[in-house]
This record gives sequence, C-alpha cells and structure tokens, in this order.
Amino acid sequence: MAPILIDTDPGIDDALALLFAWNSPEIQVEAITTVAGNVPVDIATTNLQRLLALRKPVPRPLVAVGASGPLARALTTATRYHGEDGLGDLPDWPDVAPLPGSPDAVSVIIDLARRHERALTIVALGPLTNLALALKEDAAALGRVGRVVAMGGAVDVPGNVTPTAEFNMSVDPEAAHRVFAAGLPIELVPLDATRQAMLPRAGMRATLARSPGLLASRIQGFSERGFRIAHGDGEQGMALHDPLAVGLAIDPSLGKWEAARLAIGPEGETLRINGAPNCRVAKGIDSNRFIRWFLDRLCPGPAPRDASS
Ligand code: RIB
Ligand code: CA
Repeated sequence: MAPILIDTDPGIDDALALLFAWNSPEIQVEAITTVAGNVPVDIATTNLQRLLALRKPVPRPLVAVGASGPLARALTTATRYHGEDGLGDLPDWPDVAPLPGSPDAVSVIIDLARRHERALTIVALGPLTNLALALKEDAAALGRVGRVVAMGGAVDVPGNVTPTAEFNMSVDPEAAHRVFAAGLPIELVPLDATRQAMLPRAGMRATLARSPGLLASRIQGFSERGFRIAHGDGEQGMALHDPLAVGLAIDPSLGKWEAARLAIGPEGETLRINGAPNCRVAKGIDSNRFIRWFLDRLCPGPAPRDASS
C-alpha cells in the first residue's frame, strides 16, 4: 500500500476525508499532521484525536501538531461554517488525551519524505504552512517525494473567500507561494474540481441509515451543520472539497488534469503565469463515480454475515 501523509485542519470536510481515507485499502495513512486553518491548531488536533478515538484506524497513524498560524499574518478561521469547535459544535464528544509536543509536524513531514522519497504522497487539506516550514528546513527531502496532492485554489472559477481567493490559499498565501515556487510535484485540487463533488443531504442520510451506530450518528451530527450552512448559502449540497483530494490521491483517473504554471498572489489569488508548468490541476471530475465511491467507504456497515454464522 502506498504510504500517505495527510496534513489537515479538521474541519467538517477534513473529517469526512479522513474517514474516507481510513476505509481505503489502497493507501496507508502513515502520519497525520495538523495545521491552523478552519480552527486554531489546538482545536484541529483535538478534532483529530476525537476522530481517531471514534474510528480507531488500524494501524493507528503517527499524529503530530503543526503550525499555530500562518507564516506572516494573523490566522483567519472558518468557524462560521465548521462551528466554533470545527466539528459542528456537537455537545457530547468524549474527552481526549492531549498530544505530546514532539515530534512536531515539520519533523514528521521531513522524516517521511527522507524515508519514503518517491513512494510518499503528501495530501494537504488545509493551509500550506507546515509544508512551507518543512521546505525551509529540508527542501531537498521534500523535492524527492512522489506527489503533493493539495486541496486549494480557484483557477478559472470564483474563490470562496474573495472573488479570486480560496480559503486554504488565502489563510497563508506566503506559504502557498513558497510551495508553488519550490518545484514540488504538485497536483492541485481547486474549487474548479471540488464544486463538481456536491453531496446532497439526502444522499448522506440514506448512506448513514444503512449502517446505524455511533460512527453514523457522529457523522450525521457534524455533517448536518455543513449541509445547513451550505443550503443557507443557496448551495445544492455540501462540496466535498477535502474528500475529493483524497479520492484523487487514490485514483487520479477520477479527474481530467491540466498542466499549468501557477503562482499564489498576496491575498491567496490563484494566478496563471508564463513559463513551464509547475503543477497539474484537476479540472473535470467523474462526479457520480466519486460520490458513489465516497459514500460506499465513508461509514461501512457491519461485516456481512457469512452463511455459516
Ligand atoms: O476551501 C475549502 C478548503 O478550506 C477545505 O480544505 C476546507 O476544509 C477549508 O479548509
Ligand atoms: Ca481543510
């Protein structure tokens, strides 16, 4: 199985992406690093701990805490959408143990890059702060990884923070600019693609109803906030931004890709610039195939009884 490192700011769609990844046998999520974004990094880390306690993936991934804020500006969160606690503000999560301060995210990213080299895929689901800090410490190691699949940007469509900027890029444009300028094998999953992966509320409800239990009720609880805010904003469902990045990391054939040279502007704008391509961008998505695949794996029911039982 391909080793994967996921850098994330859980967040409702990050949580769905992690649950999808943990039920995908093609990959092994060897490490998960947290970063400030949707919520402050301590809350993002608590949410990761909550999801690990809920789902109990085997093997348990290494977890490391990352940057508490962008490289050069104050943190802007997205609690309006995700809730103050980042997971829909449900009242009754069990307490989780605090994480040790070491190893930190940058050390873990560099260590996996050095050990796995071309075999490693980094999946970035939040602001690119941790990756920029890892580049600063060991650009050579990062340059040897196989793939960097990053959810973010708005190439030929409007942004979701400003008309020209998407959230992950707008939170830390300095970090994103450095990552795009470093010559990494970037596979960008922008809003151009993720807005094609709209999950209807009824689809989530029908899937969860097929496998009742604690996991399904938790997913229903925190995702309901996402649906409520999305519908309030006039959307037809929840855009599966981060789950699609995981899906494309597992199966790139879900998308049609365009080679492009991009730079990230001072406020997180995704800019096409002249010169040789520095990334490939997911544009067309096989939405039906992805949504079916995501729902099949999000919350699988109990193992089917065999005839002898
Ligand atoms: O713009 C969508 C991205 O910003 C997603 O990663 C979501 O979790 C937020 O971080
Ligand atoms: Ca995210």
